[in-house]
Amino acid sequence: MAERALIAPSILAADFTRLGEEVRAIDAAGADWIHLDIMDSHFVPNLSFGPEVARALRPLSKKLFDVHLMIQPYEPYLEAFARAGADLITIHAEAGPHLQCGLQTIRALGKRAGVALNPATPVGAIEPVLDEVDLVLVMSVNPGFGGQRFVEASVDKIRRARTLLAGRAVHLEVDGGINPETAAKVVAAGADVLVAGSAIFGQPDYAEAIARLRLALAC
Ligand code: DX5
Ligand code: ZN
Repeated sequence: MAERALIAPSILAADFTRLGEEVRAIDAAGADWIHLDIMDSHFVPNLSFGPEVARALRPLSKKLFDVHLMIQPYEPYLEAFARAGADLITIHAEAGPHLQCGLQTIRALGKRAGVALNPATPVGAIEPVLDEVDLVLVMSVNPGFGGQRFVEASVDKIRRARTLLAGRAVHLEVDGGINPETAAKVVAAGADVLVAGSAIFGQPDYAEAIARLRLALAC
């Protein structure tokens, strides 16, 4: 739906000893959104950070804070992340039985709502909640860690998700294993927001890394 795909660097891959500087750097380098990966060592086998870190980073960038909750249950934390400065909060379809209610809660908190699907979750899982979402996130790796290999079956899933979203102003985001090569494939399939961790923070020049992703989309 966006005219050009948006780039959302995941700060999970940033240098945590200089997290504030990293957020400022990625903002100056041309990031469209800032992606925050929240992990609980229960829904996914890793721990990252909580709402207080999001709150501390909030004054450092005016860019949209795209909060990806990989936590179960998510209900007790929605308000905390909303208050911490999230602009968009994404919850996983697999993380609880009351997905529609969770999405409505996010919107009632004044934030945009997203639903995420793990690689093994059929795309039809979003059908019942299409009226409740501003973003669909197709995971192109099993969530938990940065630097994993892109799951090729995601390309077809993105295509089918875009078909389901036809005529709706809903973003279609892809997260995991995005680099110039995979970025071109997922955007061709209909994605319009690309999360990238290692492909950006693993490079010495963030602006150049973002430019390389954009260039891949232009071809
Ligand atoms: C995976 C996270 C991703 C991850 C992406 O669980 O949701 O956002 O940080 O990292 P890369 O781009 O390195 O695959
Ligand atoms: Zn993520």
